[in-house]
Amino acid sequence: MKLSAKGKQWLRSLKLSLRFVVPLVIALVILAYLTVPLVDKLTLRWFLRDLDIRSQFITLALQEPLVELVKKGNKAKINALFTRSMQDERLLALGYCDEEKNMCYRTQSFPQGLSCKLPTHPSGHEKRSLLVLPQGPVHVTFNPVAYEGVRAGTLILVHDMSFVERRSADTRKYIIVLFSLLLVVTSLITVFVAHLSWRGWMEGVRAMLRGEGIVRPFSRPARSEELQPLLGDLHALFRMRDEERRLEDDTTISWTPDTLRSLLQNQLSGDQILVVSNREPHIHVKTERGIEVKHPASGLVTAIEPVMRACSGTWIAHGSGTADRDVVDRDDHVSIPSGDSDYTLRRIWLTAEEEDGYYYGFSNEGIWPLCHIAHVRPVFRTRDWEYYVAVNQRFADAVADEAQSDDPVVLVQDYHFALLPGMIRKRLPRATVIFFWHIPWPNPESFGICPWREELLQGMLGSTIIGFHTRLHCKNFLETVDRYLETRIEHESSTIFHSNMLTLVENYPISIQWPPPWQTTQPPVKECNTEIRQSLNLGEKALVGLGVDRLDYTKGILERLRAVERLLEMHPEMIGTFTFIQIAAPSRSALEDYQSLETRVRSLVDQINRRFAVEAYCPICLKVKNHEPEEVNRYYRAADVCMVTSLHDGMNLVAKEYVASRDDERGVLILSQFTGAANELHEALIVNPYHIEQTAEALFQALTMPDFEQRERMRSMRARVRDFNVYRWAGRMLIDAARIRQREKLSVRIGHRV
Ligand code: G6P
Repeated sequence: MKLSAKGKQWLRSLKLSLRFVVPLVIALVILAYLTVPLVDKLTLRWFLRDLDIRSQFITLALQEPLVELVKKGNKAKINALFTRSMQDERLLALGYCDEEKNMCYRTQSFPQGLSCKLPTHPSGHEKRSLLVLPQGPVHVTFNPVAYEGVRAGTLILVHDMSFVERRSADTRKYIIVLFSLLLVVTSLITVFVAHLSWRGWMEGVRAMLRGEGIVRPFSRPARSEELQPLLGDLHALFRMRDEERRLEDDTTISWTPDTLRSLLQNQLSGDQILVVSNREPHIHVKTERGIEVKHPASGLVTAIEPVMRACSGTWIAHGSGTADRDVVDRDDHVSIPSGDSDYTLRRIWLTAEEEDGYYYGFSNEGIWPLCHIAHVRPVFRTRDWEYYVAVNQRFADAVADEAQSDDPVVLVQDYHFALLPGMIRKRLPRATVIFFWHIPWPNPESFGICPWREELLQGMLGSTIIGFHTRLHCKNFLETVDRYLETRIEHESSTIFHSNMLTLVENYPISIQWPPPWQTTQPPVKECNTEIRQSLNLGEKALVGLGVDRLDYTKGILERLRAVERLLEMHPEMIGTFTFIQIAAPSRSALEDYQSLETRVRSLVDQINRRFAVEAYCPICLKVKNHEPEEVNRYYRAADVCMVTSLHDGMNLVAKEYVASRDDERGVLILSQFTGAANELHEALIVNPYHIEQTAEALFQALTMPDFEQRERMRSMRARVRDFNVYRWAGRMLIDAARIRQREKLSVRIGHRV
């Protein structure tokens, strides 16, 4: 029979209390054993005294009429007097002896063999004797009778003693019942108190595990047998905490794919990792040269791919490439080679309507503008929402399909899947779901615009951990949950307690792989410089600025172009010398806001180019095309300055990629204060992209910055990106996940979910 958690807890309390109850039983039995004869003795003494008094009382009452009748020798009346007195059922017989010890009168019941001579008794009592006659034990008293002060004879009273035995037996019975009752009550109290103390102790342990308080050092009972497995778990947990601290505090540790792999092995015992994102890392497309693999322009993919290569596992994503279906197996799997061990890409197929409603509609016309302060209004339609729900459900089903155990670690990525954690929790209640929100989280008022805000929040709270890039986004999220849902929020531990589960909300600033890819295969910076300049017909000495973005209104591309224009106005010496290359990957082009952005960017570029063109010189070179990452890397290495002027950005990995690519420690980064990266890359020239002159001045400062200053700034930023690379990002989340998993296992053991 399977016991419930509560049942188990009671059983444990019972076991614990047996240790007190058994000695208690023994003690009480011994006590009862000693008490019964003592009580027997006492009651006998009380009864004897009682009979002595009764005998004296009867003698006193009889002596006067008796002596009178004896004097007259009236035998008949003496018999009548004796018979009257015998009405007391305990008085068995009466006899009268004269002074010469002759039995003169006696009742018929007077025992044979009993004479006027007082039998000697071991107690030495002069007037009383206890005899055992054939009819049972009797109490015999010899009381002198006197008349007017002269002794006349002796009255012998014989009392039946069998009632004493009866009463003693009754008393013994009552004592035994009393002791048994005492035993039961004390045992129950002991079990109850043990249960309460066990619960109290466990609450203490839980509080300590939650980091809420300190538990008293283990006293002796904690070392008892019942607690040994628990102690084992606790020790494992403490060891893990030490290890975590070591990893967390030691910024000098180099986080590599190997560190991540061993973390998975040691702390997650090699548990399966599943990643879910909308965008797939490898897109198979049909070209004239056959099927080719393309890599999307997505910060998310840039970050997750190296983690997946280190961890293997399965990545579930929308299959959006024209040749995607041609390369998958029967289970829609395609193996992605990655050096040591491959990982699997599981593709999900979406109909045009699904893509329209879930991806373009709800995700990119609704949530994307809702979360970015870029002055584009979100649009919410019921039909889009319905597709969003349906597609989230399809991905949840795929997760359940791919899971090889009931407790996989699932890394859910981004705003396309706010409902997914809750849906996964329903299918796989024991899964560890880490949900990472790659874009900013707005304040509660802004988020409140969404008609399905409660549903989205509830879905997200199916996660074990919800991650954001910055503390501010975590704070906004906690405030939003507080505003719209009934939950208990612990701000100190940054946790939300809801529907009997706990969700940790933490900031994990995302990053890129280190060492950067192609470090050993890319040509030296000088060569990249020459190659890029030649390809654009620029002179060797030309100064090159670079912008790399998706064509998205949040990236501040128009503001950046205006800053370039202002630079040329304010510093005309730069005309003919400075060229700005804008790489713009087409993005979400089916949406009107994106189409109109492209039109506006193209027209502004034309306008500036017309204004400042001198012979073959064009200040701005716009490349609207998806570039492969390796190619972008060569641009990074060739650019004197890289401009990241997002109006609002969760992190922005272009900034980190630029820094990582500059192994020559040259180049300057201009970085918007509205990016998550600005919290980390302090040596960049931080600008407000809305302030055109300020950005233009920063651009001028960058282009004229002395070499040594470039080196100092770049060196410091590179150290930061090296130490806080993407393996550290994933590692910190997995450490937290492992800790929570361990706690949950422990909680199940002690019969309570934390
Ligand atoms: C942002 C989002 C990602 C997305 C990327 C590219 O970085 O956070 O989830 O993959 O943009 O956008 P796309 O719509 O092309 O996937």
